[in-house]
Amino acid sequence: MKGLLALGLVVLVVAVGLQALVQQPSLGQQATNALLSLKAPPPELHAPGWALKIGEIALGLMDWLTVAAKPAPLRAFEAMFGFGLTQALAAMARLEVFDGLAEAGANGATCGELIGWLRNRKPSQIRRQPVNAQLLCRLLDFAAANQFMNKDQATGKFYLNDFSVLFTQNDDNVGSLVPMLLYHADEVNYGWTRLSEGMRQVYPAFELANGENLENYYNMNPEKRGNFDLAQRSISADFAPKMLAKYGDEFKQFAQVHGRSVHICDIGGGIGSVAEGLLREFPDATATVIDLAHKETQANNYIEQVQLKDRIRFVAGDFSKPLSVECDYYLLNHIIHDWNDTMAVNILSHVRTSMPSHAKILLVEPVLETRNAYFERLKRFVDMQLLVVFQRGKARSTREFTSLLSSSNLELSRHVPLCGLFDIVEAVPVDATSKVITPETAAPVVETPAASTSSKPRKQKQREQKQQQEAEAAETHKATPAVAAEEAASSETPAPASP
Ligand SMILES: C[S@@+](CC[C@H](N)C(=O)[O-])C[C@H]1O[C@@H](n2cnc3c(N)ncnc32)[C@H](O)[C@@H]1O
Repeated sequence: MKGLLALGLVVLVVAVGLQALVQQPSLGQQATNALLSLKAPPPELHAPGWALKIGEIALGLMDWLTVAAKPAPLRAFEAMFGFGLTQALAAMARLEVFDGLAEAGANGATCGELIGWLRNRKPSQIRRQPVNAQLLCRLLDFAAANQFMNKDQATGKFYLNDFSVLFTQNDDNVGSLVPMLLYHADEVNYGWTRLSEGMRQVYPAFELANGENLENYYNMNPEKRGNFDLAQRSISADFAPKMLAKYGDEFKQFAQVHGRSVHICDIGGGIGSVAEGLLREFPDATATVIDLAHKETQANNYIEQVQLKDRIRFVAGDFSKPLSVECDYYLLNHIIHDWNDTMAVNILSHVRTSMPSHAKILLVEPVLETRNAYFERLKRFVDMQLLVVFQRGKARSTREFTSLLSSSNLELSRHVPLCGLFDIVEAVPVDATSKVITPETAAPVVETPAASTSSKPRKQKQREQKQQQEAEAAETHKATPAVAAEEAASSETPAPASP
């Protein structure tokens, strides 16, 4: 009886939630986009918060119901065959099948028509390969059976649907899921095949499978790096509108209080695509992008290309060393989750050392706790990806963030979920008047940007910092809980052997 009541309640909430989504189709689309980091949602994200919340709850319940309603053997088969879905999708993207269907539009195309179209098509983003007609027809039937596309059984015609449209391509492929799909179906997928060996914690599964770590792998395969960069840009394109919706008020308030617009530092900001998106949403803001020196030329070209030279500045810097760059907000977008606790504290401490007392740090990445079954699965997937690719990297819980931050003389001031997969963890200095102790005494490697709000000369700041470090002794760093815990754990880790 209790079970029936619970089920009834679940069905009711799902129905109400779906109703909320259906009544506002743009909201449903935005929610889906936002959840999956798909194409950038339309700029007018004016859906009421309660409707989004109900939609999210409904999605979680629906997901839970779909999984729970399936008998275990069915779930077992689906889990075993899941790899085939990824690879079939990737094959069709590589063969540009979805683009052919897009061109056919409402008329649809039979398998034969599609093959004719593919043969006459000029090569584009992904190199076209010759196809055998019969084999391709079987692949299309498999895809239609899995609802990748629709098939009219009477005419034998295939049609693009709301799923396959996400895998069509365009000139720069920003907003298309294809680069992300190929990244997962190719180099990362090989990594997953070595997961059990990766569990020995000697080398990441990615490295065991591909013979190199991610960075070296891309150095040796520049075309794959190009695809990876595109995949990153697609995620970035989606980020700024979400940030505007969930954090825009903070920037507006800052401008009111300080009488000027925000200056954002994007730490590990790549070529500046995230900064670009943000500055388009916040027209008076300025940004400094900090990344490794080898990104400088590409970043400057990009910033010039998007005509934001007067508002974005690239500064070569290394966040594993002291930074000296003063900003109002320090954005670390998908950075900390790539690193272990020791390195995370190291990076955060360097940011902390350079930040003025009014400044805030914004970490953007998944925060693990969620009661939503659907988001839980997505976030756990991100965590596993980090395990496979980097091993040292991980998704963290609020507790883990709190510990990392406190080890860096910072505290968690706000947690802002960004529609599903990612969150903003906002942090402020614990004591705005004291500077954190770091093990380094070396001079800062990054120049203070022109837009800096600092009033003290750099040399004077360095002198003060050094004096403070000498006075307070280096044990402060080691005594921090996150670092101590990790050092204790890593003392049991075997030394790496050759892969
Ligand atoms: C996962 S990407 C994130 C890029 C960007 N924040 C975004 O969201 O698109 C990590 C970035 O960190 C940069 N990076 C890695 N090590 C770094 C270091 N020691 N100092 C500065 N940047 C670094 C990489 O070059 C890369 O651009």
